[in-house]
Amino acid sequence: MVDLDELWKNARSELAAVADPEALDVWRLSYLGRHGALTQVLRGLGDLPQEERRSVGARANELRSELEKALEERQAALERDRVATMEAGSIDVTLPGRPHLVGRLHPITRTLRDVLGALNSMGFQTVEGPEVEWEHYNFDALRIPEHHPARDMQDTFWLDSRKDGKRSMLLRTQTSPMQIRFMETHQPPIRLASPGHVYRYEATDATHEWMITQVELLAIDEGLSMRHMKGALTELCQALFGRDRRVRFRCDYFPFVEPGAEVAIECGLCRGAGCRSCGNEGYLEVGGAGMVHREIIENAKYDADRYTGFAAGFGVERIAMLRHDIDDIRYFYGNDLRFLRQF
Ligand code: PHE
Repeated sequence: MVDLDELWKNARSELAAVADPEALDVWRLSYLGRHGALTQVLRGLGDLPQEERRSVGARANELRSELEKALEERQAALERDRVATMEAGSIDVTLPGRPHLVGRLHPITRTLRDVLGALNSMGFQTVEGPEVEWEHYNFDALRIPEHHPARDMQDTFWLDSRKDGKRSMLLRTQTSPMQIRFMETHQPPIRLASPGHVYRYEATDATHEWMITQVELLAIDEGLSMRHMKGALTELCQALFGRDRRVRFRCDYFPFVEPGAEVAIECGLCRGAGCRSCGNEGYLEVGGAGMVHREIIENAKYDADRYTGFAAGFGVERIAMLRHDIDDIRYFYGNDLRFLRQF
């Protein structure tokens, strides 16, 4: 017969040496497990003589609850030690977690997506064009010949390279060259939305940047009139600024349209009455527009008696500034995260 006192003594000294949860489990199995020492004793009770069976049985059961209690205590002590070690400095439990950095879209990208979303839903197809452009597409084909005053209004970054010795390259000053490029390769009906960067060689201030984003619109079809132009552009402006904002069209001049118009949106603060935010105008300009000049339709070799069209160009930074009350265009490309994180 096993000496129960001896078993208890051994169990306690082994338990005292247990230093981690794995060792504790080994200990538990070796005494209280199915093949454990104490379990063997309890199983062997039946082989003992009657009178011994009773006293040994009682002692063994007592021992079992003592072992279980000792196990629990040891477990709690190990846990206390673990926390104490952590708090002692090997792991700083007060250190804040590392936040996941969540990226976001640039405010101009977001505004551009809204603009294109509104245009795509009206059937305008998005097509991008080159930022490095021939003088021909950027100016001449748009009826802006050399020495035309409209060239002075768009101070140009010229490139040194003259690929064939005669023609000059530049950074496009507008997205309008895509009107010409698209007409060269497509037949009416046309519904084009062409976004992208444009460049102007000018000093930066609160309302001027040397690079901005424009979206060009072009529609060519049978029977298109100024009513279609006003309808489509009003829909675009109201999709961006709200259904209750009025849209104003006023005469303006662009060499490649006739008649030409300036598109402006009712000031959100004074509702057209005039205030400081809109420079007493009541309206804020968002783009230019007009009916495609007959000469341009003819140059595209379309039947100018059959096809007419309208074109427009919008400034995306301008739209974003008006939508979010941003008073300085330089914030967009200043890379200041305090600004960018607000969107
Ligand atoms: N390209 C003109 C500009 O940048 C805007 C415009 C586009 C005007 C299409 C009329 C038609 O100023």
